[in-house]
Amino acid sequence: MQQINIADAAQHVNEEVKIGVWLTDKRSSGKIAFLQLRDGTAYFQGVVSKNQVSDEVFELAKKLRQETSFYVTGVIHQDKRSHFGYEIEISNLELVGESADFPITPKEHGIEFLLDHRHLWLRSRRPFAIMKIRDEMIRATYNFFHQEGFVKFDAPILTGTAPEGTTELFSTDYFDNEAFLSQSGQLYEEVGAMAFDKVYSFGPTFRAEKSKTRRHLTEFWMIEPEMAFMHQEESLQIQERYIAFLVQAVLDNCQYELKLLERDPEILKRYTQTPYPRISYDEAIKLCQKGGINIQWGDDFGAPEETYISDQFDQPVFVLNYPKTIKPFYMKTDPTRDDLYICADLLAPEGYGEIIGGSEREADYEKLKAEMVRQGLSLTDYDWYLDLRKYGSVPHSGFGLGLERALTWICHLDHLREAIPFPRMINRLRP
Ligand code: 4AD
Repeated sequence: MQQINIADAAQHVNEEVKIGVWLTDKRSSGKIAFLQLRDGTAYFQGVVSKNQVSDEVFELAKKLRQETSFYVTGVIHQDKRSHFGYEIEISNLELVGESADFPITPKEHGIEFLLDHRHLWLRSRRPFAIMKIRDEMIRATYNFFHQEGFVKFDAPILTGTAPEGTTELFSTDYFDNEAFLSQSGQLYEEVGAMAFDKVYSFGPTFRAEKSKTRRHLTEFWMIEPEMAFMHQEESLQIQERYIAFLVQAVLDNCQYELKLLERDPEILKRYTQTPYPRISYDEAIKLCQKGGINIQWGDDFGAPEETYISDQFDQPVFVLNYPKTIKPFYMKTDPTRDDLYICADLLAPEGYGEIIGGSEREADYEKLKAEMVRQGLSLTDYDWYLDLRKYGSVPHSGFGLGLERALTWICHLDHLREAIPFPRMINRLRP
């Protein structure tokens, strides 16, 4: 008899199969037991009827506790009433591992309790669906950049420099020197672009965010593409294509997971349509002011402003060209406005705010140096970075997408902490 996974049930209707499972819940009456089962690929129901199995098997079925592991043997049937569409009519059960009282029961639990039990919570349907969609987005990311001719170019995690400003750095002792955990691979990706034309990195990123918000983790995963001989316009087009590709991949391959999350695929379909709307920073400020928000030109947008701006659009929206005072040194100065950089943040709809930050890079040696001096950076620390402008400098652009931010939006979650297997936040370092 064939051993299969629950996810493959559709291909085995009316066949007898064996599946290794855990029990998530059960209901039994005198003659029948309904077992809710999971195997790591999907969730479905097993039915044990007293008159079709031995007394021993029926007694075992009634005694099973939540998260006990066992093999079931039985015939797969269609079950149109269930979320999954199939069930198994069980003829035999073989116990594998008993379970103690499982702390996460089908009743409601508080978020802190669930996070304390994250190692067990991950077995539940909601985190299961989110992590499967995360996996799909990771696969789609590799597919997209491969298809677009990019080379995967890994940036170091231990670094000696701080591309996004020094306040958010984690430092560590490094053989009597100080090293920092990477807060962005970008400067290294710029090196890569000069050697391989189009590159991207995809790795863990660390920021000592002291604020407790639903949009900030201290450890998250960022995808950072960097393209040589490319201006901002083409970079924006890549960003649109990439987001639309991610959403399409989730629509194509995660229908079951979207159903578990009760996420309406019709809403997601809208986001596969490009181009996305664009407004300038100047326009965005005016929009906020018109909406009654107290903000002045030169201020950065916080979560409330980004939510307000993105709520005015039903697709992701690019906000272009921010004041220099609120963005990092490496961006290219707008040739028509000396107070602006050529940059863009992509804000996700439905109130999710920034998911991508990117810019054209300053390619001119003297201008970059002047900007670094203005922002108080050490020219010796960055001599290797300045070298890129000394030896055949070219226009180049790039961007960074936070995986958890994009996943939170695509799954319509309330908080980034559900978008990563083990969230790291100011007050959370375990499990
Ligand atoms: O806008 P940021 O800071 O841009 C950079 O780091 C650039 N070096 C990227 C580049 O051009 N190569 O961050 C980029 C993205 C944000 O849009 C957001 O999605 C995510 O990284 N991000 C965070 N995600 C989770 N927790 C945090 N604390 C985050 N900070 C940024």
